[in-house]
Amino acid sequence: MQHIPVALERCIALLAPAITRSESPIVIDATLGLGGHSKALLTQFPQLRIIGFDRDLSAIAIAQQNLESDIDRITIVHAIYNEIDSVLEDLGIAKVDGVLFDLGVSSMQLDVAERGFAYSQEAPLDMRMDQSKGISAFEVLHSYQRNDLIRILRVYGEEKFAKNIAENILKARATNSLNSTKDLAELVKDSIPAPARRTGGNPAKRTFQALRIEVNQELEVLESAIPQALSALAVGGRIVVMAYQSLEDKIVKSSFTAVTTSGTPRGLPVDLPNSAAKFGFVIRGSESATDAEILANPRAQSMRLRAIERLAA
Ligand SMILES: C[S@@+](CC[C@H](N)C(=O)[O-])C[C@H]1O[C@@H](n2cnc3c(N)ncnc32)[C@H](O)[C@@H]1O
Repeated sequence: MQHIPVALERCIALLAPAITRSESPIVIDATLGLGGHSKALLTQFPQLRIIGFDRDLSAIAIAQQNLESDIDRITIVHAIYNEIDSVLEDLGIAKVDGVLFDLGVSSMQLDVAERGFAYSQEAPLDMRMDQSKGISAFEVLHSYQRNDLIRILRVYGEEKFAKNIAENILKARATNSLNSTKDLAELVKDSIPAPARRTGGNPAKRTFQALRIEVNQELEVLESAIPQALSALAVGGRIVVMAYQSLEDKIVKSSFTAVTTSGTPRGLPVDLPNSAAKFGFVIRGSESATDAEILANPRAQSMRLRAIERLAA
């Protein structure tokens, strides 16, 4: 499937005021992927320098090729985006003008069957975004205790039939019959009562989401990354985040709400000293993709976009 960057024009427009107010602007692309957003930003803003993060070495290899013509203006780091603090320190960068997060997996990761992200393709149960380290979905499925499996499926997959699925995972372990994405998709299907299978798309979707989140520690990593991104922003700098599932969007929403809220008790006419909010909303609440974009790029359907700006140091 061809890779179409989501909300590309909108992201550029939201970051533009932060980029153009600086003579030598720097933006962090926290989720470089195939470099779609970075390429457009580098083309649009000739003075811009980008620090691009990705935890996936195969994404980095493709991004390097796609960004070849501007490679001297982008520093690509193989790192998790909650390492912003240490990467900036290593690079001797104190503040940046923009941060972009385009969360989740890329079209490439979904399309390459062997990565194990897609329930519709036969593959080993891997699901690691960084295949150079960490434990795979196979190891989670074959080593976690029953209660942990139930918790992961319930919390990360919002799966109502978590108990049935966990019981069947334990049975499959005993018979060595859970070895591929197809085995898992079948197991989930067999764990869900027939009437519940008829609604809400492929029932394996929720289990695959849960495992992916666990394998990559996606929520913990995001929770610790947002404060680092916010503290890296210069006054006038902006952060734009696109989330594709509600658990991630909730983290973004609550982090943004906390820093855009004044510490002054309600009812006072002016902010007390040092209690004014340091960030302000660029977008109130969230935005979705337009119908036209969703038609052209179905991945944009579940996207929620949020953006705030640093108002004070
Ligand atoms: C949706 S894709 C980004 C696509 C990109 N904006 C483009 O236009 O090509 C998300 C990328 O972020 C990476 N990623 C996800 N979580 C990450 C994390 N915690 N740290 C670093 N990279 C991460 C994935 O490996 C994937 O390549």
